[in-house]
Amino acid sequence: MKKAKILLVEDDETQARILADYLTHKGFQVSTAFGAQETLKKLEEEPYDLVLLDWRLPDEDGLSLLPKIRESFPFTQVIMLTAFATVERAVEAIKRGAYHYLTKPVNLEELLLIIEKALRESRLQKEVELLRAQVEELSLPEAPDIIAESPSMKEVLRLAAKVARTDATVLILGESGTGKEILANLVYRLSPRKERPFLKINCAAIPEGLLESELFGHEKGAFTGAEKAKPGLFELAHRGTLFLDEVGDLPLPLQAKLLRVLQDSTIRRLGGLKEIKVDVRIIAATNRDLEEMVKEGGFREDLFWRLNVFTIKIPPLRERKEDILPLAESFLHKFARKHGKSVKGFSREALEALLSYHFPGNVRELENIVERAVILAENEIITREDLPPLLKKKGEEIPDLLKRLSLPEAVALLEKERLQEALEEAGGVKTRAAELLGISERVLRYKLAKYGLG
Ligand SMILES: Nc1ncnc2c1ncn2[C@@H]1O[C@H](COP(=O)(O)OP(=O)(O)OP(=O)(O)O)[C@@H](O)[C@H]1O
Ligand SMILES: [Mg+2]
Repeated sequence: MKKAKILLVEDDETQARILADYLTHKGFQVSTAFGAQETLKKLEEEPYDLVLLDWRLPDEDGLSLLPKIRESFPFTQVIMLTAFATVERAVEAIKRGAYHYLTKPVNLEELLLIIEKALRESRLQKEVELLRAQVEELSLPEAPDIIAESPSMKEVLRLAAKVARTDATVLILGESGTGKEILANLVYRLSPRKERPFLKINCAAIPEGLLESELFGHEKGAFTGAEKAKPGLFELAHRGTLFLDEVGDLPLPLQAKLLRVLQDSTIRRLGGLKEIKVDVRIIAATNRDLEEMVKEGGFREDLFWRLNVFTIKIPPLRERKEDILPLAESFLHKFARKHGKSVKGFSREALEALLSYHFPGNVRELENIVERAVILAENEIITREDLPPLLKKKGEEIPDLLKRLSLPEAVALLEKERLQEALEEAGGVKTRAAELLGISERVLRYKLAKYGLG
């Protein structure tokens, strides 16, 4: 086994020599320091398993040096030595992180026993740390801002964490508002490129003419108005990561150019001849069905295969209902803080309404709904009334359904829903329901019969 390394901190040279000789004789590798500064310097230069620390040092007392050692070198055990033993001092030393406390003159056999025990414990501690690191490796990444309670979202995070460590191109698919951008961020944060630039571009938001020069840059005079040469995002993101958001909206000519970068990692600025080597990790995202676009000729097949190396699909919120409440809670706290309101939770009905809604706009829609509710809330609890009307009814598919219906059909559907709601609220009492709806009881009866509700 490797010899354990001990740093002996003692300003009395004779004492130091006696102890050092003894410990070396017992099989330890011993170095000596005579003051606090020297101690810290030595610890920084190489790791020690244990420090024997004298209480009284020329430049700083050992007791104040002790916590500094423990904080910066948690795997280094410290045993304090002092000529003036008191119980208070012993307690203070242990409180500050000493493994043990001995009085001088030191009983060498006792010292040896304690050193061995301390070393055994720190070996164990290291093993535990190592195990913990391995366990963390297997578990979900640390991503406090991403909520993932559902098994499918947990799987998404696991995949993201795995691919993050490589340089592979990542394609993130998912409906609008499912969290594609937040996931792209996570991949970047967990990647070895995290200290390097992370640049984003939304391919759908920039006009085609500008997009090309944004991505690849231009030389002076490349086009009217190009008064200065400008590097593109690929050059700026060199050694870093580039997030191509809405990549499905990239116009065909630019798809060809992007393919070239992906194939040979070189770009040419607009109006330039020079081939510039770039090393950029690509994360792309889209809510479009790229395969379908390939079939229809809107997306290059070769580019699709280049991007489709490691694809992560984020499921829509309605398919991972376990995430709805934790997300709602977290948004509630965020917006309560933002708007300075003391809103603390949701009523049961509000929660039920949220759970049964189908969220065509996914997490972003939920976020907006909660923000609006927080603003509307009259007291500490968000009620069903604070949620938008669309959510108030359990008939969940309605909004989507309406889009596919003719006007008379849509009106009939809403009328029927509203009638049912009023009847429920009125506890089945028709006069009361008619009042709630602002119609006569006769009209109510007629309508109920019409919809087979009467
Ligand atoms: N799992 C999640 N945990 C916490 N917040 C989330 C989560 N998913 C999405 N969000 C939040 O929802 C909003 C929409 O997310 P994001 O912009 O990443 O979605 P997107 O898929 O890129 O949407 P779009 O297709 O519309 O661009 C953001 O405010 C984001 O912070
Ligand atoms: Mg987005």
